[in-house]
Amino acid sequence: MSAIPVQQVGRTLYIHILRHNPCDPLSEAHLQTFELEEADAMTLFIALNEIRENHDPSLQFDFVCRAGICGSCGMIINGRPGLACRTLTKDLPDNITLAPLPAFELIGDLSVNTGKWMRGMSEQLETWVHSQGLENADIDSLEQTMEPELAEQLYELERCIECGCCIAACGTALMREDFIGAVGLNQITRFQLDPRDQRSDAQFYQLVGDDSGVFGCMTLLGCEDMCPKQLPLATQIAFLRRRMAMV
Ligand code: SF4
Ligand code: F3S
Ligand code: FES
Repeated sequence: MSAIPVQQVGRTLYIHILRHNPCDPLSEAHLQTFELEEADAMTLFIALNEIRENHDPSLQFDFVCRAGICGSCGMIINGRPGLACRTLTKDLPDNITLAPLPAFELIGDLSVNTGKWMRGMSEQLETWVHSQGLENADIDSLEQTMEPELAEQLYELERCIECGCCIAACGTALMREDFIGAVGLNQITRFQLDPRDQRSDAQFYQLVGDDSGVFGCMTLLGCEDMCPKQLPLATQIAFLRRRMAMV
């Protein structure tokens, strides 16, 4: 006799979303609650789409890849920063509160302009390989071999998807607008390790050797705890501090 399948009873989820449209002078920030039936393997991304399709087409939130790669779906999920596309509703209680990431310009509801913040940080720190005098070199001389261990180290730091969760989780970043945060300090370490970048240690430290950089960090560790890519952010910051002390 075949076994009778156990009936899965879906939960009713109550999703409370912080709504606000900063472009509308009459808009006031408020929580709006949506009720929906939980589906198998439902992510917050799926839940938000269902809300937008069946309840309120005006709901604003961002996503591109749905796979934890593009970094656009960061939001505050029950008080903690995280990626909506990588968060399963089964790991959350029936009541779920969603808010936009703080520290970034609000576009509307759950959508924030992390791109503008990341671009500003990137321009300030000049996060590209600086190699002067090679503009006219032929392609063969530009190619350099690299020790596999070093390539691995660089690859590890390049896994950052610029989601902004480390900034939203950092008390310093919430207090100081000019703080470049763990994401910026991670970038500096990445380029400092790169032998193709001809900037000196002193030049790197000029970029981050003050309170908006490495000395603004109070070792609160929220960045590393909340990074969805599990980057060793606190270790990188400690590494930068140690290297600066040696210059
Ligand atoms: Fe996101 Fe981690 Fe990169 Fe910060 S360091 S932006 S938390 S991936
Ligand atoms: Fe902020 Fe991380 Fe430092 S949370 S204070 S950057 S250790
Ligand atoms: Fe790309 Fe979530 S949609 S990381």
